[in-house]
Amino acid sequence: MNFLTLLFVTLSLLSAAGASQWRFDLKNTTSGIVALEAIVVSPTLILMFDRATNDTLQINNHSAWGALWNLESNAVTALNVLTNSFCASGALLSNGSMVSMGGDARGFAGNPAIQPGNQAIRIFEPCASPTGEGCTVFEDPENLHLARPRWYPSSIRIFDGSLMILGATPENSFEFFPPKDGGEVRPSPFLNRTVPANLFPRAFALPDGRVFIVANNQSIIYDIEAGTETPLPEIPNGVRVTNPMDGSAILLPLSPPNYTPEVLVCGGSATDPATPAANLSSQTPASSQCSRIMLTEEGIKRGWVVEHMIEERIMPEMIHLPNGQILIINGGRTGYAAVRYHRKLVGEGNADHPVLTPVLYTPGLPLGERFSNKGMPTSDIPRMYHSSVTLTPQGNVWVGGSNPSPNFTLPAPGVKFPSEVRIETLDPPYMFVERPTLGDLPPTIPFGAKVTVPITVPRALSSDVVQVSLMDLGFSTHAFHSGARLVFLNARMSANRTSLTFTMPPNSRVYPPGPATIFLTVNGITSVGVQTIVGSGAPPPIME
Ligand SMILES: *[C@@H]1O[C@H](CO)[C@@H](O)[C@H](O)[C@H]1NC(C)=O
Ligand SMILES: *[C@@H]1O[C@H](CO)[C@@H](O)[C@H](O)[C@H]1NC(C)=O
Ligand SMILES: *[C@@H]1O[C@H](CO)[C@@H](O)[C@H](O)[C@H]1NC(C)=O
Ligand SMILES: *[C@@H]1O[C@H](CO)[C@@H](O)[C@H](O)[C@H]1NC(C)=O
Ligand SMILES: *[C@@H]1O[C@H](CO)[C@@H](O)[C@H](O)[C@H]1NC(C)=O
Ligand SMILES: *[C@@H]1O[C@H](CO)[C@@H](O)[C@H](O)[C@H]1NC(C)=O
Ligand SMILES: *[C@@H]1O[C@H](CO)[C@@H](O)[C@H](O)[C@H]1NC(C)=O
Ligand SMILES: *[C@@H]1O[C@H](CO)[C@@H](O)[C@H](O)[C@H]1NC(C)=O
Ligand SMILES: *[C@@H]1O[C@H](CO)[C@@H](O)[C@H](O)[C@H]1NC(C)=O
Repeated sequence: MNFLTLLFVTLSLLSAAGASQWRFDLKNTTSGIVALEAIVVSPTLILMFDRATNDTLQINNHSAWGALWNLESNAVTALNVLTNSFCASGALLSNGSMVSMGGDARGFAGNPAIQPGNQAIRIFEPCASPTGEGCTVFEDPENLHLARPRWYPSSIRIFDGSLMILGATPENSFEFFPPKDGGEVRPSPFLNRTVPANLFPRAFALPDGRVFIVANNQSIIYDIEAGTETPLPEIPNGVRVTNPMDGSAILLPLSPPNYTPEVLVCGGSATDPATPAANLSSQTPASSQCSRIMLTEEGIKRGWVVEHMIEERIMPEMIHLPNGQILIINGGRTGYAAVRYHRKLVGEGNADHPVLTPVLYTPGLPLGERFSNKGMPTSDIPRMYHSSVTLTPQGNVWVGGSNPSPNFTLPAPGVKFPSEVRIETLDPPYMFVERPTLGDLPPTIPFGAKVTVPITVPRALSSDVVQVSLMDLGFSTHAFHSGARLVFLNARMSANRTSLTFTMPPNSRVYPPGPATIFLTVNGITSVGVQTIVGSGAPPPIME
């Protein structure tokens, strides 16, 4: 055990002792649209997208498919979106603008306003209104669009602050926004050979600037500058982890001084994707396997190390908590992702046996001891296909969506998994006790900068050891959180516990330049997060 691991274990044990319980909190309003995609866009707002169907929330006399959720009032504001955002991706640029891209080419009979979304670029500029009033989505489909149509793509911010866009149907290629290579796409042999189970490829910007990608049961490291794909070992035991065999994947927290990257991939299915659809059933057990790899020369030689979740999960969500633990939540124990993909359905969905109790994964504990659902509450709302989850700036976990049907389906007798517009938060124990506070940060902070901010620390928190986490909260859809990242910062508090000094990551490869939320954790009790932009806040380069 190294020092950080030991520190982590100690802090986890301290936080477990005497803390109150985790709780689900059902909100007093609904999301109005199915939260199929969700991303935090300000201290108070979550931007949600659905497909353009028949959602109850209205705008301009038709159903909305984009909306803002206000974390303070639970109010929902419909957004006017032009193109179909069904199964799109999204990420934040270096200058703070949010970009949603790709989606469905189709319209919808009940919603004449809809335009094809498969080449769409939708820009949500930083919006200062805490309630979302006046915030808009900018689209100009004719003049601002992707090079190629992309449905089920992923997108991550890279070291120059632009976005790399990966896949998907029908495009086994990469492109960038703003464009590189004169707007040409880069064909990917890896994506080509992982068809048909490679939708929403799970990708992470590594701390050396290269990109790790896992799809189906294969993984590579892609070097953006050299344009090369280096194959890594396959996921063991035939387990597939991308749509329609959705497992989830996460880059474990990065810590100074070495920022050694490790990837954890959980759930999915061991079914061979070549199996005829008629032979697939919603009752086939999903995989409980998690596979973990350290992306160093030695780690790659060792390959994937296998461990198991408490339950099988198809479509699990995995998100970072500010203390470095990983929350695993949602999904089902049997079946597959997608809608009407095979014959033995539940309603029109491919999965069954919802998993209603979340699990914590503690990366620093020994193999075999890392999963626990002790003290975890159980929800009574299944969150199956088309749901989303995100950590909020307040430090709790926002949970929305689920709609394994082709249309908006109201609850009715015999409908096991209706279109779900109820929103819950999963509240960690620290939401119910006096918490440390972190003062406001400058709007932008350069790489390598040493920053001192005022803090308050409740007397009950006796430790002088702090954890300061720099987080991208990610864009959530299809059991993946595009762009999600946690980098621990070197930090110490003043002897009188009134100020905190921390050092930003050394360069734009450790944390791609752009928006971040910083949390302070003392004795396992986490502050409300404070937002800033890491780097200059300048727009990404245009390299046409
Ligand atoms: C919505 O419908 C109402 C009543 O038919 C009409 O008065 C109004 O102008 C319409 N609004 C829009 C934005 O189309
Ligand atoms: C719902 O709860 C929020 C937060 O407690 C409160 O601000 C809001 O007024 C409530 N809204 C309704 C419609 O009850
Ligand atoms: C949309 O929903 C309304 C009721 O909410 C229903 O009357 C209408 O038929 C639906 N349209 C479609 C195309 O499903
Ligand atoms: C993609 O894979 C198919 C076989 O599945 C092969 O015929 C084709 O040449 C490949 N294309 C590229 C661009 O690698
Ligand atoms: C990965 O998938 C391929 C194609 O289905 C299969 O041949 C191979 O055995 C799998 N690899 C492992 C390690 O299970
Ligand atoms: C599919 O099911 C049929 C009939 O149940 C069976 O004969 C066949 O072997 C199955 N194929 C696969 C690939 O599982
Ligand atoms: C669902 O929507 C499609 C159009 O996208 C329509 O053709 C179909 O009839 C709808 N099904 C139901 C059950 O409303
Ligand atoms: C706390 O200590 C810092 C120096 O570390 C000092 O600048 C500050 O004035 C002290 N604050 C209080 C309230 O004593
Ligand atoms: C950020 O950069 C993008 C891409 O160049 C641009 O579309 C957007 O308007 C910029 N946002 C701000 C706030 O300047």
